[in-house]
Formats: sequence, C-alpha cells, structure tokens
Amino acid sequence: MAILITGGCGFIGSHTCIEMLAAGYDIVVLDNYYNASPIALQRVKELSGRDFPFYECDIRDEAGLRKIFAENKIDAVIHFAGLKAVGESVQKPLEYYDNNVGGTVTLCRVMAEAGCKRMIFSSSATVYGMSNPSPLLETYHTGEVTNPYGRTKYIIEEILKDVCVSDPAWSVVLLRYFNPIGAHESGRIGENPNGIPNNLMPYISQVAIGKRPFLSVFGDDYDTPDGTGVRDYIHVVDLAKGHVRATDFALKNTGAEVFNLGTGKGTSVLELVKTFERVNGVAVPYKVTPRRPGDIATCYSDPHKAEAVLQWKTEKTVEDMCRDTWRWQSQNPNGFEE
Ligand code: WQD
Repeated sequence: MAILITGGCGFIGSHTCIEMLAAGYDIVVLDNYYNASPIALQRVKELSGRDFPFYECDIRDEAGLRKIFAENKIDAVIHFAGLKAVGESVQKPLEYYDNNVGGTVTLCRVMAEAGCKRMIFSSSATVYGMSNPSPLLETYHTGEVTNPYGRTKYIIEEILKDVCVSDPAWSVVLLRYFNPIGAHESGRIGENPNGIPNNLMPYISQVAIGKRPFLSVFGDDYDTPDGTGVRDYIHVVDLAKGHVRATDFALKNTGAEVFNLGTGKGTSVLELVKTFERVNGVAVPYKVTPRRPGDIATCYSDPHKAEAVLQWKTEKTVEDMCRDTWRWQSQNPNGFEE
C-alpha cells in the first residue's frame, strides 16, 4: 500500500513525507520542481533513512500520471502540487486555473481509471473569504475569495465534493490550513520561497539573517489588540502530522469531509516579531507601512473537529515555530541553493 504525494518536494510536502514514512506508510513522490528543489528530497531521504520512488512530473501530464499508477499500487493521494502565490495569481489567472484546477481534474481522472479513489487535498483557510468571523468553523460558507489562487482552492473543493456525489466509492478529505510556518527540528528542510517572500515568517527570518534591511509591517491600524494583523500560525510539523491522521481517516471512510488544521489561537505580526527576536537573540528591524490590499484584520481556526474526529491536535508553540525557523534559516542562508 503506497501513498502518492504530489508536490512532495515543497515546504509542506517534504515535511509530510517525513511524517508519513515515520508512521509506517510507503510513499511515492511526484513534483515538477517549479517551486521546489531536488535537494529537499535528498534531505528527506537522509532524515528518514528511507528511499522511495520519485517522478519528475507535472499534474497536467496525463501519460506521466498513468505511468506512476501503472508502476505503483497507489491507495490514496495527498495532493499538494499547485501554484500558491496570491499576488502572482492576480497577474496570471489562466496559469493558476490551468495548473491548479486543470491539473487536479487530470489527476482525478487518472486516479479513477486506476481504481484509486481516495484523496487528501491541500486546501486553505483562504476559502472562508473576508466576511466570516473567527474562530472559523468548517460549516461556515465559503467562496467569497478575493484572488484567483484562493478561488482555485475553493473550486477544487467543490469539484471534489461533486466527484463524491457522482461516485460514492470516493473518499475525499479537504484540509483547510491556516498559516504554516516553522521547520523540521534538524534545520535541514524548511520554507524556501522563490525571490522576495510574500509571507511574514520567511520575510522575518531573511531580515534577521541580513538578507533584507527591514520588515514592512502592513498596517498597525486594524481592530486588533496591537493594531497589526492576527493569524493562526501552525508549525509545519504539526500540519504534516495532521496529514497522517487525515490519510488514516480517508482509508477507512468514504464521502467528502472538511477539517481545519490550525492551533485555534491568534498571534499578531508584532507579537511574532518580538517572539522571534526573544527566542533567537536576533534583531528584526521593521517599519510600519500602509495595509496590503486584500488583507483582513483577524483570521484563526476552531480546530475542534480535527481534534475530535482525527484525534489530532497541535503540540508546538509559537516559540518552537520561531526557534525552528531560525535554525533552518541560519544553517541555510540561501535556502537549498548551494
Ligand atoms: C500574515 C500577516 C500580513 C508579510 C497567506 C495566503 C493564504 C495562505 C497563507 C496559502 C498579515 C502581515 C505579511 C509582510 C506583513 N497561503 N505581513 N509584512 O496573508 O495570512 O495568508 O498565506 O494557502 O492563502 O493568503 O499570510 O504571511 O502573507 O501575512 O506585515 O512582509 O502578516 O498583513 O497580517 P496571510 P502572510
């Protein structure tokens, strides 16, 4: 019994490979290296002490996908592969719909042909849009998304629910991530953004290591305790372990099920900056700048459904996230580039 992990060389994918192997699963990894490095996979093998099949393949490549299912007995797919930059999606919507939505449709078709009808999908809290109040519940309405990237996540969720209605043999688990940060405790793998980081934590760590002069804090006039944006930061290792539990669940059930993967706690931008400085003994200079269009003041999860149904709960603290991020960044100043 093997689990195919698409996008397995990426930030969350590589951490999930390690936890899946540790849980006793056999894995097969697919990646097109668009936003990932082969070095990440080498380090996954080093850290896990295991080898496994890898295919350099695009999820839109039907023949390439068929080859994977012909050569391996795949019982479920954990589907990470996709473009994920919010700003870029506004500039290149067709690329995002073709890759994320078109690619997922192709993947599902090949899966069904091969008799593999179980998928754990990498969705996002972004599908909750701007108007739902935090803490966010899985039953809240979705779809009022403000960018093409988030809309691809919403559309794929709807496609997968429709597939389950059309064929009750399908088992689909939709995982809505909040804000994944941190790194494996070894410091050997971590978040490796291309170019200027869009997200807060990789930007903080690049300022701390001297790669960027200062952090721009996007607004301090929100209706939050210190005026800066509040988010539900979740350690990427906790997130990866959530995928193990979701796979266990998908293999025992049918139909579509949604779960928030978050801590249920909110942390502000300035709280994260101060915690990072304190636990690592480094300085993170910042300047307050105008709000970033599309940002909301507060977003955090109600994680009780995953705790009750998947028997999964986050264990790591914001301090762990800051410490582990810094270890990765300081040991790998240029990410996976040598
Ligand atoms: C967090 C907070 C910013 C950068 C995004 C995607 C979402 C998901 C997670 C994939 C906000 C502030 C940020 C900076 C700042 N990704 N910030 N200066 O926007 O909550 O969510 O990543 O699924 O889809 O939208 O994360 O890290 O960009 O921002 O002040 O340089 O940090 O305003 O309050 P976000 P983020």
